[in-house]
Amino acid sequence: MDLVTQIREKARAQHKHIVLPEGTEKRTVAAAAVLTKEAIAQVTLLGSPEKINAVAAAEHVDLSGVAIIDPEKDEHYTAFAEEFCQMRAKKGMTMDKALETMKNPLYFGVMMVYKDICDGMVAGAENATGDVLRPALQIIKTRPGITTVSGAFIMVTQDAHFGKDGIMIFADCAVNPTLTDEQMAEVAYCSAQTAQKVVGMENPKVAMLSFSTKGSAKHELVDKVASATAIAKERYPELLVDGEMQLDAAVVPSVGEFKAPGSPVAGHADVLIFPDLQAGNACYKAVQRFGHANAVGPVLQGMAKPVNDLSRGCSVEDIVNTVALVSCQA
Ligand code: ACO
Repeated sequence: MDLVTQIREKARAQHKHIVLPEGTEKRTVAAAAVLTKEAIAQVTLLGSPEKINAVAAAEHVDLSGVAIIDPEKDEHYTAFAEEFCQMRAKKGMTMDKALETMKNPLYFGVMMVYKDICDGMVAGAENATGDVLRPALQIIKTRPGITTVSGAFIMVTQDAHFGKDGIMIFADCAVNPTLTDEQMAEVAYCSAQTAQKVVGMENPKVAMLSFSTKGSAKHELVDKVASATAIAKERYPELLVDGEMQLDAAVVPSVGEFKAPGSPVAGHADVLIFPDLQAGNACYKAVQRFGHANAVGPVLQGMAKPVNDLSRGCSVEDIVNTVALVSCQA
């Protein structure tokens, strides 16, 4: 069974309740029908029922079994606004602003997850990443022991020599433009957990990437990755992590042996941690486009409850798969 099928099967077994705030977006409407028909998840769409039903009719989509909620008319609207106002009072939130904010389905959807009405949220078919993440970062926040939410991609490559049968985890490719040493160490830890929980890797090997391998180049950026590696080793002694190392040293056994002899990770890494978002985002897209790898994600890691972002170029299939992924995280 391939990875995507496995994730869908796991989601079907758990049958979680997922909210899709972009309820009037046509791929989202079509995905809601597929998810319901195939019993992958219980789905709630947010938006005006008239508009959602008009989209469904135009797209010849049957929405039987899909719940529709219009945030402004819902019984929870005022209570959500009150709670949001309280939690953001120190940031200058007022009740008027909170009522206005709660009309935004992205905020209303996050509140549904926060209040355990739903198990997770998926959006981003028509909203930029930052706009999807901000409500979740403000309301749901990180899980205990974690300070930084990050975004991993599960890269399904065409070469079974890499990672676990060709599957590798890349992070952070989606959230933090820059990372401190501590944050990079934490991303390594969260990514190893994603490798274990979502992909089923038993003891993932984590490489901290740089343009230097074990001191081959001297630069403050290299020092940062070396420091992040030391922090990860100290804070998470059970984690199989090493660095700093170049990408070829991380994934090619002969290069790893030559450049980082004795490393428990070099040459056999399953998880690649990038020093910043420019490197991580560019690299996952390069592997996806030039290497024809399937990039599943981003999987948002470290959030107290699961919310996931979509690419605005996503297909109906991508939305279905991301909902399945969120269900597995829930
Ligand atoms: N982890 C935990 N909390 C965070 C994080 C994080 N990584 N980032 C921000 N926060 C918190 C802040 O502490 C703040 O909390 P508070 O308001 O309660 O004090 C809240 O989130 C908002 O933070 P801001 O810094 O005000 O929000 P900002 O507008 O900078 O948004 C965001 C944060 C959305 C993550 C931003 O850094 C961003 O846009 N990142 C890039 C996303 C992106 O464009 N990715 C590339 C495309 S994705 C792709 O290609 C698949």
